[in-house]
Amino acid sequence: MERKQFLKSLGASAAFAIAFPCLHGCSSDNDEETEGNTPIPTGIDFTIDLDEPANAKLADNGGFVLKNLVVIARNLEGEFVAASQVCSHQGYEEVRFVDSDGGIFYCDVHGSRFEQNGAPLNQVDGATAKTLKIFKTELTGTMLRIYE
Ligand code: FES
Repeated sequence: MERKQFLKSLGASAAFAIAFPCLHGCSSDNDEETEGNTPIPTGIDFTIDLDEPANAKLADNGGFVLKNLVVIARNLEGEFVAASQVCSHQGYEEVRFVDSDGGIFYCDVHGSRFEQNGAPLNQVDGATAKTLKIFKTELTGTMLRIYE
């Protein structure tokens, strides 16, 4: 059976799925996946409005948002914390806030885990990662400032 006949026998939807398997993206659910070696963000000083829909995840303890290569999180005690989204291990922009171990920063590229003060919690590749860069936060009304 020739390819054309084969696709015809499958029907239009199956043929479409075979012909365009990556139409909706072949990557993971993280659109910000990088190649590593991204510089650690510097000169950070910006403000976000907690009332904006884009920041709605910060209404819940354990929620976080990403902005300007910074992970802004509401920890499990309801306090705002912020860290570099760029991992101190190999510079991938994959650091996120996770609610395990009382709330930590975690990079799933090689599994580095960091306390909320940036201190590394584990070894990766036989070595302890460097401290994760942490930023200060200041809440005024619904405006949250993230700065160094
Ligand atoms: S780059 Fe984050 S654990 Fe390796």
